[in-house]
Amino acid sequence: MKYKSQKVAYWFFAFSMLLLVLQITYGFIMGFARIGFDGLHEFIPFNTARAVHTNLLVVWLLSGFMGAAYYIIPEEAQRELVSVKLAYVQLISLAVVGVTAVIGYHFNWWEGRKFLEIPRQLDYLVVVNVLLFLGLILITLFKGKRKTTTALVLSMGLLFAALLYIPGMLPFDSQVTDSFFRWWVVHLWVEGVWELIMGGILSFLLIKLTGVDREVIEKWLYVIVGLTFLSGVLGTGHHYYYIGVNKIWLIVGGIFSALEPLAFLAMALFAVNMYRKGEKKHPNKIALFWTLGSAIVSFVGAGLLGFAHTLPQTNLYTHGTLVTAMHGHLAFWGAYAMIVLAIISYALPNMTGRKLYDSPVGRAAFWTANIGMIGMTVAFGVAGVAQVYLERKFKMDFMEVQAEISIHFVVLILCATLFATGIILYIWDFYKHGLPSDEALDIDSDL
Ligand code: HEM
Ligand code: HEM
Ligand SMILES: [Fe+2]
Repeated sequence: MKYKSQKVAYWFFAFSMLLLVLQITYGFIMGFARIGFDGLHEFIPFNTARAVHTNLLVVWLLSGFMGAAYYIIPEEAQRELVSVKLAYVQLISLAVVGVTAVIGYHFNWWEGRKFLEIPRQLDYLVVVNVLLFLGLILITLFKGKRKTTTALVLSMGLLFAALLYIPGMLPFDSQVTDSFFRWWVVHLWVEGVWELIMGGILSFLLIKLTGVDREVIEKWLYVIVGLTFLSGVLGTGHHYYYIGVNKIWLIVGGIFSALEPLAFLAMALFAVNMYRKGEKKHPNKIALFWTLGSAIVSFVGAGLLGFAHTLPQTNLYTHGTLVTAMHGHLAFWGAYAMIVLAIISYALPNMTGRKLYDSPVGRAAFWTANIGMIGMTVAFGVAGVAQVYLERKFKMDFMEVQAEISIHFVVLILCATLFATGIILYIWDFYKHGLPSDEALDIDSDL
């Protein structure tokens, strides 16, 4: 850490970890409800738990991205953040929106639009929050000594993510139009602009951790950005197959979304190659694990498991089943959760001055969480495929099918327990680092 203002990142990361714990709690509530233990039903029915689970996911990831930007941008731009005070104001307003939304969901104050459940009135607060965040980041970058490709890609990702939130705020009477634009947010986030955010963070981490020249790493970043836009934009069509829009989307969506795994493949190859090439290896092994892990697991979760149901011929059967949940878990985990955990693992020792670079707890956290998540993915997958056959092929009643597959949720809960253990270990390690301090020295801020 070279600039004192980078320390604000710590509090965004801490907030992130708090919400992650809550998200997992709601995951368990749903898992248990699925096997008949639904004691909380009166206050937290499945649909409420689901909305809270997925929204907490989005907010903790966004808080992680914001922390990452507050850490990375000053270092890349080589100057202090323009205002630390406003960054704290922004964190507090983020927490206010998040907490209000989550509490509101328990009182049925939410909209039935998957992932965009936040009531539109609250959306205006989101806008103010995001504008403040972007202002701080972009002005810092603009006034800085240098504008690196890494910083630009990260900032563009964040800026476009904010702009793409707008189509989701527009009111439409038609269900079809509403759905059409909902995907501009949901799809173009995770399979478009968030990939730029991931690419930017990945590139920053690889520069620091492998010691490979910035020029080489940033050339790869261009390739990734290119592949992302080439495939991801028209790839939106894989959500338009049978929703009531023009049939042309069957072909366009099929072809372009089938190309989407290439961007994730490039990211995995990029990370592994830079690691191999790197001579000056950084001692922070835990950060390296999460960085390489993110690049590889995202290829499996987003690339391969996304491909598995992206062609219209398969999606006709799998749409909206637990096959989607299978893919959703490993994709979000690999691409976005793991990259946030990677930047936290890298930044923490630099902010706190405690060099817990390679603790047994840190390694155990990595492996336990990942093996647990892979187990969960398999459990969702088996349940999903069984659901597809029973419900869609053999036309069994929806609820009968759910009873039939509930046994797989026992497996899910076992694997989720392993996963949660890993997360608890990670947070224990986080806590062990202590609070950020101005004296913390960074051995690698000159790269
Ligand atoms: C990190 C990147 C990705 C993440 C986080 C992600 C996550 C998700 C999530 C959460 C859903 C459910 C959305 C909803 O129903 O509202 C979904 C749906 C879907 N994803 Fe992805 N995804 C990613 C990348 C991909 C890629 C690269 C492909 C294709 C190769 C893909 C193919 C699909 C398809 C076809 C659906 C629709 C499933 C259905 O019809 O129910 N995804 N994804
Ligand atoms: C203890 C851990 C977890 C458990 C038990 C759990 C369980 C569940 C369950 C039961 C659902 C609803 C599936 C359905 O519709 O029936 C769900 C949805 C979802 N969860 Fe989790 N989850 C956990 C952790 C996570 C994590 C760490 C992530 C992200 C990294 C995540 C991402 C999602 C997403 C994206 C959905 C929506 C999927 C879709 O649109 O189909 N979950 N989860
Ligand atoms: Fe998509």
